[in-house]
Amino acid sequence: MTPEFHQSTREVARTYDLVYEWQNTHGPIMGTDVDPDYNINTKETLAQGCLGAPAGRPFLEVGTGNGNFGPFMEKYHPDRVWFGLDFSIVGLIAAKNHFRQIRPVNGEMLNFPFEDEQIGAVIFADALEHSNDIPTTLAEAYRVLTPGGILVASVPTPDSLNKWKRNALRQTKFTLIFRAMLAAARRIRLFGRVDIQPEDHHLSEKEWVKYFADAGFKVEPPTQWPTENGLTPVVQLFRAYKGD
Ligand SMILES: C[S@@+](CC[C@H](N)C(=O)[O-])C[C@H]1O[C@@H](n2cnc3c(N)ncnc32)[C@H](O)[C@@H]1O
Repeated sequence: MTPEFHQSTREVARTYDLVYEWQNTHGPIMGTDVDPDYNINTKETLAQGCLGAPAGRPFLEVGTGNGNFGPFMEKYHPDRVWFGLDFSIVGLIAAKNHFRQIRPVNGEMLNFPFEDEQIGAVIFADALEHSNDIPTTLAEAYRVLTPGGILVASVPTPDSLNKWKRNALRQTKFTLIFRAMLAAARRIRLFGRVDIQPEDHHLSEKEWVKYFADAGFKVEPPTQWPTENGLTPVVQLFRAYKGD
């Protein structure tokens, strides 16, 4: 945890509320919303990873925010019930306004308000690294999944922001760099700092695999993105199962 942060969960949730309020009118602040290629590529992989989840069971997306996973639920899983859990009410309202399929659940990722073994797939899109207690969050994911249920997660590679900047420069994506600078300026204007998420764990593949395995999951070898044209991966994509 960044030492200068001493915020209660409610204060952190309020930060995200402000972010989503601003995004609605002024444009992107969150990294995912700044880079559409990142958003599409990672969420396609996560949604495809949920194909084959036990039939008839709802999906639970944790840290659903303003609903960026919605197009991929509609494309790959239109008939699933999609619970979206987040502690930002403003984010959830935006998600609901865009996607009828979502069932918003206002809550914290340390305690999922679901019965044991009810869920077919748990999805973390750029969210698990923000837990302030990763083992507890993963224990909750394991608890609510039905046997054979799937967990998918996108998490950053170590030092991902600098890697992302170098990739953008290498591809001469100056519009993207400008959007990122604008997002940083918005963060400073709103909160007085660029780093606004108090929990942001940038762990190695080995550390994540250990977390998943310790929670009881069977973990597949992860993939990374991007890997083409000599670019440096900024995100790791995991898929894991709860055994039968
Ligand atoms: C980086 S955003 C990702 C949003 C969305 N999944 C996406 O990919 O666009 C992280 C999300 O996790 C939520 N979040 C962070 N910590 C949380 C916690 N402890 N409990 C519930 N939600 C949390 C935030 O409100 C935010 O919407």
